Amino acid sequence: MELFSASLLSVFVILVSLSLHFFFFKNKSSSSSGNLPPGKSGWPVLGETLEFLSTGWKGHPEKFIFDRIAKYSSPVFRTHLLGEKAAVFCGADGNKFLFSNENKLVHVWWPASLDKVFPYSNQTSLKEEAIKMRKMVPNFFKPEALQRYVGAMDQIAQRHFADGWENQKEVVVVPLTKNYMISLGCRLFISVEDPSHVVEFSKPFNMLASVLTSMPLDLPGTQFNKAIKASNYIRKELLSIIRQRKVELNEGKASPTQDILSRMLLTGDESGKFMHELDIADKILGLLVGGRDTASSVCTFIVKYLAELPHVYERVYNEQMEIANSKKAGELLNWDDIQKMKYSWNVACEVLRLAPPLQGAFREALSDFNYNGFAIPKGWKIYWSVNSTHKNPECFPNPKKFDPSRFEGTGPVPYTFVPFGGGPRMCPGQEYARLEILVFVHHLVKRFWWEKIIPDEKIVVNPIPNPAKGLPVRLFPHKAT
Ligand code: HEM
Repeated sequence: MELFSASLLSVFVILVSLSLHFFFFKNKSSSSSGNLPPGKSGWPVLGETLEFLSTGWKGHPEKFIFDRIAKYSSPVFRTHLLGEKAAVFCGADGNKFLFSNENKLVHVWWPASLDKVFPYSNQTSLKEEAIKMRKMVPNFFKPEALQRYVGAMDQIAQRHFADGWENQKEVVVVPLTKNYMISLGCRLFISVEDPSHVVEFSKPFNMLASVLTSMPLDLPGTQFNKAIKASNYIRKELLSIIRQRKVELNEGKASPTQDILSRMLLTGDESGKFMHELDIADKILGLLVGGRDTASSVCTFIVKYLAELPHVYERVYNEQMEIANSKKAGELLNWDDIQKMKYSWNVACEVLRLAPPLQGAFREALSDFNYNGFAIPKGWKIYWSVNSTHKNPECFPNPKKFDPSRFEGTGPVPYTFVPFGGGPRMCPGQEYARLEILVFVHHLVKRFWWEKIIPDEKIVVNPIPNPAKGLPVRLFPHKAT
């Protein structure tokens, strides 16, 4: 349905654009800018955006990239995406170049339409806010803090499995893994634990993930309009939680270290200035959005692959049961247990390689520069694609094969395995994500084995990969020994 309405909108935009084509596109922008990378601009206004997005809707986002690498015999090509002239840099060299030139030749870029969905309270742009977030987030995800989170994650996982999985014959995995991630975020970021509050709070998040791939049309009923409303609703909810917390902190009823919210309220920036309430709401919204659909997609695909590959399941099960059997009754998982989950993490990494939650990200050229013999003009957008290495046989032989042993020993060649990006913009939530995924795997395999109800369920990447019907599975609890 979403695909259909997006297509209708696109046809409309194409018709309008076509009539403007001859006026605006007669002078090809490319000819005056030196030796541009090979490629084409596609349709006026739309460029190649539809092809770019639709390969993902069909479950093969890498097709857009590999078709063009083959067609132009070049690891860098020109295109036109989301209304912008763009170059796509492919392969480990492209990743290395972009990750090492952050804030020198390039800097991070997102479509301006995103500022409408995440309208930063202090009137700065999403880009400026990302820089602030970048400085702040590592403090909350330092090793000492992460070590403290493991026990809390274990408790939340136990409740999650008791409420959503146990005593069920069949479950649909996608809503459950999303619920698990948001429950963790609610508990660890803002100390919201009441399950019914979490459920209410999490509903509008469903509108936010696909905003990147929806038409930025702010009209009643459009996906974009719904996303703006959802973001406003969550920020309002967060504001009331923040105000309540301020009162509790003043009255000594809340602890200064109990969660990220308390820390944000009580930590000043370099100049000793404290953050405004609205600013804190925006930051927490960013963390909840950044962390929910990405990590839940990984958990979902772990369930899928373990159902398909019993020999992989068995090794994960043995590893996790060894840890489970080493614990006293009621003892929570700890940091050392997580370090023992080596094979399980290799499985998660192979999932991150084959079904990366983010397909890539944009940068903007800060000045004219040359790359690989081609001119990249100032202001052009540059896209780096996870799939250009993850699914490339030169980087990962037999790339379609699920093989966790690729991550043994020294693991993949640098800049080939990049699910969390690289360089200064690398995902600051990477370690946090590792913990929540491994705690999930521990509780899952300890309780069940399972089989898929739809053997060949289609995968949709919009923009995060998920099985089209949410991955329904039939559960088989392990017999008590
Ligand atoms: C498996 C889960 C995750 C994956 C695959 C993932 C992937 C990524 C990637 C690829 C980027 C870099 C984009 C770029 O190059 O511009 C990124 C940035 C970011 N991620 Fe994650 N992420 C995950 C989980 C999380 C979690 C759990 C959080 C927070 C709780 C988080 C917070 C962020 C933030 C704040 C940024 C922006 C950093 C910046 O702009 O400098 N992510 N993530």
